[in-house]
Amino acid sequence: MDILLAALLGYAFGSIPFGLLLAKAAGKGDIRQIGSGNIGATNVLRSGSKGLAAATLLLDLAKGLVPVLLAREFFGSADGYVSPAAAAALGAVLGHCFPVWLGFKGGKGVATNAGVSFGLAWPIGLAYALVWIGVLAITRISSLAGMSAVVAAAIGAALLGYPLFVPVLMVIALLIIWLHRANIGRLMRGEEPKVGSKK
Ligand code: G3P
Repeated sequence: MDILLAALLGYAFGSIPFGLLLAKAAGKGDIRQIGSGNIGATNVLRSGSKGLAAATLLLDLAKGLVPVLLAREFFGSADGYVSPAAAAALGAVLGHCFPVWLGFKGGKGVATNAGVSFGLAWPIGLAYALVWIGVLAITRISSLAGMSAVVAAAIGAALLGYPLFVPVLMVIALLIIWLHRANIGRLMRGEEPKVGSKK
């Protein structure tokens, strides 16, 4: 029961579409109608506002971090493969990617999974952040940086001594990579825009 409640808690947080709400509140219209159509920070940046993009990034990260910490606090930290924290982690990413409020058409989960990774264990979050920022700095391609980071979190969990979190982070990584299939197609054709480009 605790596992289900933790997953629902994660989903409730994760399904808040901050990018869409902030862009609408700022008079930028429906973010789903511009650029890639995604509701994440990278696409909010294409609306022309760095501040809105930064706020989207931070809030999308927070909605992954908070439910994982709450789940551990209220439902305990059972050291099983499906601990409440892991259930909240998966729930938060599923909420962001498939929000009931938007007909289950949401974002790609990279920022939310960053928060989730920090919530599960800070060294995993640090590995995630370093790979995300490092690949972004080198390539300036958000999708490539995000996909690298989600894989780094799963591998990092194994290498850094958190084997119990490997399954959930692997499932999340596979989901996030699948959600990037259009980006992968553009990457292979050399057409994926760099961060800051309006496309
Ligand atoms: O976090 C989303 C990012 O990986 C890709 O965003 O808008 O370029 O498809 P976008």
